This record gives sequence, C-alpha cells and structure tokens, in this order.
Amino acid sequence: MAEATRTMIELTGASRRFGALQAVQSFDITVDEGEIFGLLGPDGAGKTTTLRMLAGLMDPDSGSIKVAGLEVRDNIDAVKDQIGYMAQRFGLYGDLTVEENMYFYSDLFGLPIPERNRLMVEFLDMTRMTQFRTRPAAKLSGGMKQKLALMCTLLHKPRVLFLDEPTNGVDPLSRRDFWIILKNLSAGGMTIFVTTSYLDEAERCDRIGLMNKGRLIRVDTPATLRASWAPYCFAIETSDKRGARHSLQAMPGVLACEPAGADLHLYLDPEHANAAHIRSALTNLGFAPLELLPLDPSLEDVFIAGIAQEEARAKRTAA
Ligand SMILES: Nc1ncnc2c1ncn2[C@@H]1O[C@H](COP(=O)(O)OP(=O)(O)OP(=O)(O)O)[C@@H](O)[C@H]1O
Ligand SMILES: [Mg+2]
Repeated sequence: MAEATRTMIELTGASRRFGALQAVQSFDITVDEGEIFGLLGPDGAGKTTTLRMLAGLMDPDSGSIKVAGLEVRDNIDAVKDQIGYMAQRFGLYGDLTVEENMYFYSDLFGLPIPERNRLMVEFLDMTRMTQFRTRPAAKLSGGMKQKLALMCTLLHKPRVLFLDEPTNGVDPLSRRDFWIILKNLSAGGMTIFVTTSYLDEAERCDRIGLMNKGRLIRVDTPATLRASWAPYCFAIETSDKRGARHSLQAMPGVLACEPAGADLHLYLDPEHANAAHIRSALTNLGFAPLELLPLDPSLEDVFIAGIAQEEARAKRTAA
C-alpha cells in the first residue's frame, strides 16, 4: 500500500498587515513532504512576509501556520530544528572562505565535527564547489555565492527548506544548476517552499501559488494553470496593434490585451467571456478580418490573466 503523504506546511487563513497595508491576506496553502512549492509574485507582493511567518521570524495577525505538524508560533524552537531558511540577503562572510563560512554555520548549529566534515564533503560535491572551498566568499560568482548559502542552510539537515528568491540576479545557466540541486533534494524527501519572480523557475515547481498585492490568486500545478486558461487566451496578428488593443480593452468580457512580441495577447474573462461577440465587435469596428488565434498560454500569460481577473472581480464587488 502506498504510504500516506504527509502535510509539511499548512497555512490556514494566514494574514499579516503593516499599518494600513495588508501584506498577506488570508492565505490557505498546504504543501506535502517532498514537494517543491513556488510562491510567484512581483516586487512587494508579500513573498518575504509569507516566508518570514513560515520560518517563525514574524507572527501572523490571524490564522494558523503549521510546519511539520507544529503550530509555528507556539513551537519556535522545535520548528527551527526542522527548517532551513535562506533569506533574500543571506549572511555570508565575504572575507571568510567557502569552508570557513561552512564551519561558522556548523558551529552555530552545534554540529559535531565528524558530522560536519562528512556533510561538507557531500555538499561540496553535490554543488560542484569542491575546487572553490578555499576561495573567499566575496570572490565567488553570484551563482556560487547562492550555492554556498544553500549549503550553509542545509548543514543542520532540515526537513523543510524556505528559500527567498534564491537565484535573484543569477545568470540562467547557474540558475539551472541551482534547480538541479533543489530537484535532487526534493527527490530525497525534502520539502521546499521557494519564492521567485522568475517564470522559468515557477515552471520547475510541482505547484505554484500566484500572488499579487498580498492576495493569493490561484494555487495549482503549472500545467493545470496553463490548461485552465487556454480556452480564454488568444493571439491576434494585426498591423494596427495600438488601435486593436485600444478597442479590445474597452470591450466587455475582455480582461486584458497586451503586446507580446509581434502579436497581441488577448485574455477573456472566464466568467463573462464570449469570443464570438468579440469577433463580431471587431468586425463591426472595421478590424475584419482579425482572427482570434488559440493560444497555448505561458505562465506569464496565466499571471497577467489571473491578476486582471482578480482586479475585475474586486471592481465588481466594489460597484
Ligand atoms: N516590516 C515592515 N514594515 C512595514 N511594511 C513592510 C514590512 N515588511 C514588508 N512591508 C511591506 O509589505 C509589502 C510586502 O513586502 P514583502 O517584502 O513581503 O514583498 P516581496 O514579495 O518579498 O517583495 P520583493 O520581491 O521586493 O522582495 C511591501 O509593500 C512592503 O513594503
Ligand atoms: Mg522579498
């Protein structure tokens, strides 16, 4: 019989505000053991605030946050033993070498020396950093610095990893390298909760949460998110992009219409969409023969459509 999956992270109605600003609004998310969950959102969306609450560095104003089955705010010490938290600006010592940074964090975690030595060999090999072990951290490339930060985060053998934009500003090749390591860790049973503003990274997660301005818009697998939006996303080829966009944006049932390369991408409201109406309205406006071409939406399309849908809903509620 298959072993029951274990929930390792559980946010229920978790909220946090700063003065008048609702930074995180009533989040419901569960993440299973061994899963890679990505929180995707633009600057200021509330990603770090969510992670800080999960890591016990900040309490929610309301709601519950459980990690490894424990309510975080009531079990800080026990939770800290189970988690690794790699902050958006992780504290490496630039004048210390790779090894010395790892010694420092092992001492901080109280790791016995034989265990430390064993793990260091394993991690340096895993990250292909062995040849750089005597290089000062300040002289490492961006990607290597992030790998060193990850190794330091892993030294006390956490079961749950919280990574805050771990590859921000890192070149695409090194990012891919970093994600191969994350995939291996998750295959070994590690639960990973990662924030990102990179869509290619979101695509590598088992499930993602799309968030914007403190609101969680949708949670699902990248493939399901793309498939669920496919009927409502279209490409339009036109020589009059500006004119067509202007007209389309004003039409009922249109969530958004954005330039995408040489085309326009049109996003219809699933609750109020009518592609046939839009086609005939375009014809009436003299845009014939403009075709709405079916589009296999990217996560970027999904994100644009999701945010626009959320804003359209909020407007209807306010009206
Ligand atoms: N300690 C704080 N006091 C007041 N406002 C805060 C505090 N921390 C965060 N904020 C605000 O809360 C909102 C969410 O911030 P947060 O850092 O969680 O976003 P983020 O998604 O991590 O953004 P980024 O991509 O820039 O790291 C922002 O508007 C931010 O200015
Ligand atoms: Mg942040």
